[in-house]
Amino acid sequence: MLKRTHYCGQLGLSNEGQQVIVSGWVNSYRDHGNLVFIDLRDRTGLVQIVFDPEKYPQAHKDSRTLRCEWVITVQGSVRPRGAGLENPKLATGKIEVLCGELIILNMAKTPPFEIDAANQVGEEVRLQYRYIDLRRSVMQEKLAVRHRVAKITRDYFDENGFWEIETPMLGKSTPEGARDFLVPSRLVRGAFYALPQSPQLFKQILMVSGTDRYFQIVRCFRDEDPRADRQAEFTQIDVEMSFVDSEDVMQMNEGLIRRIFKEVMNVDMPNPVPRMTYPQAMDEYGIDRPDMRFEMKLRNISDIAEKSTFQVFTSTVQKGGVVKGLCAPGGAKYSRSDIEKTLTAFVSDLGAKGLAWMKVEKDESGKVLPKSSISKFFTEEQLKELMKRFDAHEGDLMLFVADKENIANKALAPLRVKLGKELGLVKPGDFKFVWVTDFPLFEWNEDEKRYDSLHHPFTSPVEEDLWKLESDPAHIRSQAYDLVVNGSEIGGGSVRIHNPTVQAKVFDLLNISRQQAQSRFGFFLKALEYGAPPHGGIAFGLDRLTMLLTGTENIRDVIAFPKTQRGQCLMTEAPSDVDQSQLDELNLRVQKHLHQLEQEELEPGVGPKQ
Ligand code: AMO
Ligand code: AMP
Repeated sequence: MLKRTHYCGQLGLSNEGQQVIVSGWVNSYRDHGNLVFIDLRDRTGLVQIVFDPEKYPQAHKDSRTLRCEWVITVQGSVRPRGAGLENPKLATGKIEVLCGELIILNMAKTPPFEIDAANQVGEEVRLQYRYIDLRRSVMQEKLAVRHRVAKITRDYFDENGFWEIETPMLGKSTPEGARDFLVPSRLVRGAFYALPQSPQLFKQILMVSGTDRYFQIVRCFRDEDPRADRQAEFTQIDVEMSFVDSEDVMQMNEGLIRRIFKEVMNVDMPNPVPRMTYPQAMDEYGIDRPDMRFEMKLRNISDIAEKSTFQVFTSTVQKGGVVKGLCAPGGAKYSRSDIEKTLTAFVSDLGAKGLAWMKVEKDESGKVLPKSSISKFFTEEQLKELMKRFDAHEGDLMLFVADKENIANKALAPLRVKLGKELGLVKPGDFKFVWVTDFPLFEWNEDEKRYDSLHHPFTSPVEEDLWKLESDPAHIRSQAYDLVVNGSEIGGGSVRIHNPTVQAKVFDLLNISRQQAQSRFGFFLKALEYGAPPHGGIAFGLDRLTMLLTGTENIRDVIAFPKTQRGQCLMTEAPSDVDQSQLDELNLRVQKHLHQLEQEELEPGVGPKQ
């Protein structure tokens, strides 16, 4: 067997005259009668191979049987391409390999799509034939970046005294707020394991165990509907540290992200990373993961709106709502129909009742003022006040939503991002990092009339707010922090409660009874009673981080074998039926009629790109 000496993409003029052996897949084939050319591909790239009948008749003869995606080994000599035949688009475009010996290792069926034209076929086909899809250089690069992130992570934590420790996959349900994937037990009949939503409780117990510094690159499972940046099965870089406060955790972990961005992208993350409190983020960006690549902050104009005669605004403010808005620089170029159809439909889908607007324009007398069908409800003084509030200039577009504050925020935050992108305010290759801090510990759940944890129930309140546990839970701040990059939450964590009494009190407020707490995580509460050190940690989404580093908005692009929106693997056809004997062993019975109905619905579908 001829053993490979070089990868295709590594060859260049420095190899001129050398005998080399390369192996890979036939990417393309051109028969020029006397000369045959192929591009040979491996994971490093392409190199041109020439078959010349004058010099090596046997190899040339064999080459004429080749087809795309056949697997071959070529022995040959590296030579510069003739003048004018260089290919500047190819890294190896200055040279070619003149083949002396060709070995055909395997044939291939005609692939369902051409590798170079993969973006012309639907994602379903690519996922079905993922092994072919992954041969594309863009996909290989994404896998490579993911590997580098994992490698840097392991090196970084090792250098800082962390141990990588595995925690169970077959475990007990952890309360991260999503639905569990359950696994039936054969030995304990009728009982189920849950796949971990995160290793939260185990990593805290590792701190009680004296491990001090833990990390793990770990698969997590949440049975939620997948989205553009969410998969049911995803990977976390999970971290926990003892005898630390939130500053220690943030500093240690931003060091990791700094190193990843530097080594993978040559991007310098600011030191320190800017901070923003949760109230400020909600106020100015309408969301707890602000995209800081552009300004266009939201402004509350309730005080001005209240004085106008526009009924929609005045009545909203009177009912305790707000009028919030933003000013899109240069947005006056949107036509009335763009605004009243496209933009209004966009916010309506997000729950807003309407979208009021004003374009800042020069009138006949030369005055620059906001104008639209609603400007007549405002005095000139009020219009000027509005312009001042937004720092608006001629050519800008002001947009407003009047509603309950949370609805106004839910509509305006995505609108801001949409407009930022459409108006070209986002510079390609720009990364803006921010820590969001001072989250409230609880969020009121109106439907169930109880508090929910904003992070998770093990997050510690800020020390000074502890007294509010009894009297004012809604205003307790937590020691939680999220790292946000370009509007994507890439990681979140907190300092934990290490005092069993505080933990029990938090469960009370969450309406988790002592009995429920005992049955769900009694093991954990018990551990806290045996000398839990103060501790805290964080988890980063490895998939989301890789998405940012590779510039994709589709999480499936950075996972070798992802699932569709319906949680299906189109290549293996999981989930699938199992044998009756397997069910019998597990003492399970499938309600056939229901199951069959669902199967009928389960047509493959990939899901949205966004
Ligand atoms: P959290 O639930 O915030 O925290 O998750 C941490 C990070 O994991 C990523 N992530 C996801 N990525 C892809 N698909 C998903 N379905 C998904 N869900 C979460 C996000 C998120 O920031 N145990 C805590 C961490 C801690 O407190 O230490 C936890 O899991 O990037
Ligand atoms: P109407 O009086 O319903 O015709 O609305 C006049 C303008 O106000 C239209 O541009 C609506 O989209 C807008 N509008 C209606 N309700 C709201 C609201 N709650 N917030 C912001 N704009 C609104």
